Parts: sequence; C-alpha cells; structure tokens
Amino acid sequence: MSAVAELGVIGGSGLYALLDNAVQHVVDTPYGAPSDAVTVAEVGGRRVAFLPRHGRDHRFPPHRIPYRANLWALRSLGVRQILAPCAVGGLRPELGPGTFVVPDQLIDRTSGRCQTFFDSGAVHVSFADPYCPVGRRTALAAMPDAVDGGTMVVVEGPRFSTRAESRWFTAIGGAVVNMTGHPEAVLARELALCYTAVALVTDLDAGVEGGQAVTHEEVFRVFGENTDRLRGVLLDAVAALPADRACPCPQALDGLKLPIELP
Ligand code: ADE
Repeated sequence: MSAVAELGVIGGSGLYALLDNAVQHVVDTPYGAPSDAVTVAEVGGRRVAFLPRHGRDHRFPPHRIPYRANLWALRSLGVRQILAPCAVGGLRPELGPGTFVVPDQLIDRTSGRCQTFFDSGAVHVSFADPYCPVGRRTALAAMPDAVDGGTMVVVEGPRFSTRAESRWFTAIGGAVVNMTGHPEAVLARELALCYTAVALVTDLDAGVEGGQAVTHEEVFRVFGENTDRLRGVLLDAVAALPADRACPCPQALDGLKLPIELP
C-alpha cells in the first residue's frame, strides 16, 4: 500500500483538530482502536496525519490513552516522522506559562503503562537520546523564541504533583513536567519513527517559587490561549521537515530480531 501520509502530529490537550480539508481514516490495530479517527491533509506539499491524543472529546485521560494503538495506526498509514505537541508544567521559574520548550531528554515517572511492542524475544532499543535530532532542529527553527532542550519528567497522573515531588523533579534536573510524554516517545522509537516533543508550558508546577497548586482549569485555559500560535508553529515545522531522514531514527531496529512484523 502506498503511504497515506508521511508525517504525523499527535495533538495534546486542547488541540483536537489541525488540518483543513482533511480526509478521515478509521484505523484498527492489533492493539485496539487508536484514540480517534486519523485525519489526513496536505501541508506544504507533504501528506500529514493528525491524531488527537486524548480523542476529539478528550475521553482518554493520560493513563488510559491507547499509546500503542496510536503509534501503530500512524505507522500503518505510512507515517515515519512525528511531531508531538503537549501541555507541560514549568519546573523552573523562568519557564513560565506560554513558553515553548523542545525537550531533549525525558525521565519516566509513570507506572503500569505498557511501554513496548515486543513482549517476547530480546529487543532492546537504544533510548539514550529519546527525540529525533532533525525533528528538534526543525521545530526550533519554526519557533525562534522556544527553549532549546530540557528534561521532561513524565508523571503517571491523572493528579498533579505535590510540592515535594515537584521540588524533587527540579532537583534531579527536570525542566518541565507532563503526563503523556511516555511511553509515546519510546513506542515511536520501537517503530523506528522520528519523534519530536513540542512542549507548551501552561503553568508553573507546585514546587516552583511563584507556583500555585496547579489546576485543570489553568492548564486548559492557557493551552487554549496559545492554540493558534501552536497550530502555526506546527504547520511551519511540518512543511520544513526534510523528507530524507538523515538521522539515526530509521536504524533504531537494525540488527534486532523482531518477534512481530511492523506495518
Ligand atoms: N500538564 C500541564 N501542566 C502539568 C503539570 N504541572 N504537571 C503535570 N502535567 C501537566
């Protein structure tokens, strides 16, 4: 089958649609249905697939998102490069609401989420650098004001962190905190996809000087205020992503004996 789309965007809280004149694809996977139908349209000469991470009606909380189905569905449509916008809390006072961050590392503090496609055999992917270097550079070029790098701490949720947890995340080197960055990034790596997180700070987390108890209302309000900006940046980045994948991501599975066939 020829590719329906080459690029994918997995939209986070408050970004439930991205593309105009899009065609809907209802996809099934061995891991069940993805969060929603995938919509596909052309942007800057490239075919782009959009999938709302939480579903259009935000029916999936972070710990219930069908991460494996989402990544599998995108790959089965032909997608090989993914931009992954998400809402995050700032773990440092200078990373206030409205700041864009393109993280370069993550710390997994989730528990109980299935984080692999490979339940048999010896398939251990490298994950030292969890994000695509070319995707990161391209995203940063589309966002001159964005912060280049930083560690995203991913918590299980759905609750926000205590002040003590939050202070600890800062102390161990975290720059931002969210609930969906893992296992999405590693599942993308296991499918040899390019994956780039694009984080929008919606709040200062509870342990940060000046940070209040984080509320759901605040996160959604600030995300909503920045949706147009985010959409513009994503469409620019999508159009600028080089089609030839001159990064290590396509080789992620080289030399490994896979127990399953990838789509
Ligand atoms: N998403 C947005 N803000 C967050 C925070 N402070 N903690 C966890 N996830 C978030």
